[in-house]
Amino acid sequence: MPDRVVYLDNHATTRVDPRVVEAMRPYWTEKYGNAASVSHAYGEEAADAVETARAQIAELLNATPRNLIFTSGATEANNLAIKGVIQAVGSSVHLIVNEAEHRAVLDPARKLKRLGCELTVLPVDKYGMVDPQSVAAAIQPNTALVSVMFANNEVGTINPVAEIGEICHERGVLFHCDAAQAVGKLPVDLADLPIDLLSLTAHKMYGPMGVGALYVRGGDKRIPIEPLFDGGGHERRLRSGTLPVPLIVGFGEACKLAAEVMRDESKRVQQLRDRLWGGLSEAVEGVYLNGHPDLRLAGNLNVSFDGVDGDALMMGLRDIAVSSGSACTSADPQPSHVLRAMGVSDELTRASLRFGLGRFTTLEEIEFAVSYVADAIDRLRRL
Ligand SMILES: Cc1ncc(COP(=O)(O)O)c(C=O)c1O
Repeated sequence: MPDRVVYLDNHATTRVDPRVVEAMRPYWTEKYGNAASVSHAYGEEAADAVETARAQIAELLNATPRNLIFTSGATEANNLAIKGVIQAVGSSVHLIVNEAEHRAVLDPARKLKRLGCELTVLPVDKYGMVDPQSVAAAIQPNTALVSVMFANNEVGTINPVAEIGEICHERGVLFHCDAAQAVGKLPVDLADLPIDLLSLTAHKMYGPMGVGALYVRGGDKRIPIEPLFDGGGHERRLRSGTLPVPLIVGFGEACKLAAEVMRDESKRVQQLRDRLWGGLSEAVEGVYLNGHPDLRLAGNLNVSFDGVDGDALMMGLRDIAVSSGSACTSADPQPSHVLRAMGVSDELTRASLRFGLGRFTTLEEIEFAVSYVADAIDRLRRL
């Protein structure tokens, strides 16, 4: 048994890379100026650090730095994109989302509906994927915004966002994409992709918790957005509030590292993930893969087990850190709405596990997880 609980919950959050911690350190202890206080050297130093980070993040996305607005994470970026656009466009507009989105998209959408916005929640297929043709069919003359995530946080399925974005643009509709799980794991090229607004967050890519960004496409046609907060007018008036300079520096460093290692890292992580799935499917009968078999995040494995009680399963897995479909990713535990939307039965949803592998996962940990989970399932089935 390993000395520590084996961490396989990298979709919930990732360990901060030690190089990111080192990059942030001076911004707490020596370079602690406010980036808005540019009348003195401390402020200037902080403002320069923020702009360096903005450029590092933009480089990973092949975007223009000034189009990135710093936020506290992807939840805030999603809220700013969705509420911001709908409120700026005015009442009696139509918004399109889908059933497999994170609650940081679904909840703002439902709130807007209560306030009078017309809302369509599209279904997803058995892999949790959105069909571009369903988006095309749902667009109406008053549709203002479509929101579809890049990669699903539970089952890892990657959506055809380029195709969906093109459909939106042909019809004159803005396209928002929650890329919290994709940035730093998959190439996201905003010079190429027809995406108007993109949410990202540092803590899913080996950066610190509490910082993220919303990319807002620039150019001739300004995207209408109403800010969520009123205050000092920071971030081009879209996000008032003192910038968390150390976190932003860490976010920039995490993006710089991702750009360097992403390609090799995703191959290595995928090999480990395939080993985990191969090992589990060999050792355990009645185990099913949730999510798309190929078009999925390299580090994701989501599986359901026949004939096992979901709560007992989680209780029986104390030596590994994973998520379950019974008490999922939010602070308010509910059975996974994503698996439900994919048509997975309640019983299999409760008996599902999400493994999230990442930069620091080792082969030894995966070998341990295979035999540990296989033993636990065997024990539970014999109860
Ligand atoms: C797809 C997706 N969107 C949004 C979020 C929320 O991000 P944050 O924790 O930065 O607010 C998460 C995190 O679980 C996520 O996976």
